[in-house]
Amino acid sequence: MQVPIRLRPATLQDAELLLAWRNDLQTRLASHGTHEIPLAEHWAWLDLVLADPARRLLIAELDDVPVGSIRVDTASDDVAELSWTVAPSARGQGVGTRMLIAALSEVTGSVRAEVKIGNVASMKMAEAAGLVLVREEQGVLHYQKCLSGQARSQS
Ligand SMILES: CC(C)(COP(=O)(O)OP(=O)(O)OC[C@H]1O[C@@H](n2cnc3c(N)ncnc32)[C@H](O)[C@@H]1OP(=O)(O)O)[C@@H](O)C(=O)NCCC(=O)NCCS
Repeated sequence: MQVPIRLRPATLQDAELLLAWRNDLQTRLASHGTHEIPLAEHWAWLDLVLADPARRLLIAELDDVPVGSIRVDTASDDVAELSWTVAPSARGQGVGTRMLIAALSEVTGSVRAEVKIGNVASMKMAEAAGLVLVREEQGVLHYQKCLSGQARSQS
């Protein structure tokens, strides 16, 4: 039987792990900012995220082992923006897709996600989780999912 995936809120104790995943080359290439994040910048960022009620940083675990993270940032327009990373050692095993589906079950309202063109695994994850491609802009694919299950195009 498949080990269930569990989501829990991140804490400061996850700082090192999150930084390692964030500075992994594939994660950097998939991010808007591709530079390597220094430790001090990461701590400052994590402090802000954990203190912000509009942001949720979740750690996905299999058998109590952290395998990925997913961030849910609720913007002023009430659409939650999702971003995700899977631990390099856990990639290609369905973790990303399961983690995204689990996170969506905890979110109410509309969600969106941005995926750089060429990030095939993230495109497939988004589609498997029911997100719909609503537009492409400057090399970035914009996915969305509404509570009704229907994508709403933003012009
Ligand atoms: C993108 C990422 C989260 C995918 O996580 P994952 O656990 O490896 O994804 P899954 O195993 O659920 O795979 C999802 C789909 O992509 C496919 N896939 C996985 N890795 C792939 C790769 N390197 N190239 C092409 N397809 C790939 C899988 O076969 C699967 O397709 P299927 O549903 O048709 O079988 C992970 O690779 C990662 O953390 N990358 C770096 C950070 C990143 O890209 N973040 C997202 C920014 S938008």
